[in-house]
Amino acid sequence: MTDPHGTEGTSPEHAALVDRISADSLTTRRDYLRIVATVSGGLAVGATLVSAGVLPRHGDGSATPLRIADRIGRGQAVSFAYPGEDDRAIAARLADGTLVGYSTICTHLACGVVRRSDHGPDGDLYCPCHEGEFDIRTGEVTAGPPPRPLPKVLLVEDARGAVWAVGTARSGENEEAGLCRSLREQDPDLADRIGCGS
Ligand code: FES
Repeated sequence: MTDPHGTEGTSPEHAALVDRISADSLTTRRDYLRIVATVSGGLAVGATLVSAGVLPRHGDGSATPLRIADRIGRGQAVSFAYPGEDDRAIAARLADGTLVGYSTICTHLACGVVRRSDHGPDGDLYCPCHEGEFDIRTGEVTAGPPPRPLPKVLLVEDARGAVWAVGTARSGENEEAGLCRSLREQDPDLADRIGCGS
């Protein structure tokens, strides 16, 4: 990682959000790290920051961070449960290095979604119950009856390459929206200061 703010390869909106956080003297260093790590979804942060609770609770699950893999290489995927024991999920590293995470509970009738590595350059996510298909890069529905995208699981990668699940977003909600929603529930003042809409 050469970008100290972790904005490399992210959207202009994300970069602007991080810049606002960075420029806000009222925002503590701890908050800044927590926010940047969460919205970056791939930013290298120290394992000690995660394990020390700097990334305490995000998203619907209000779950504590969970270390899901020592490393996920390009083209590899890891299944895990998060935030609860029955909340099946998957993390995958795409060919370009992007790390993505999703719930694998189908948004149609809750069957288990699996990755098909032989469908496209990055594979896809497939529900065998009624042939639902999802884009592995976005979680969007590409075929079949599922009515909504797969909810995202927010991931961070620490300085040693270990991957942690740190929160969840709702179906169709991007990482920043998920962050702002959960942040508003936890710390409305901070949410206001970094420009999260009400
Ligand atoms: S339960 Fe997944 S497509 Fe129906």
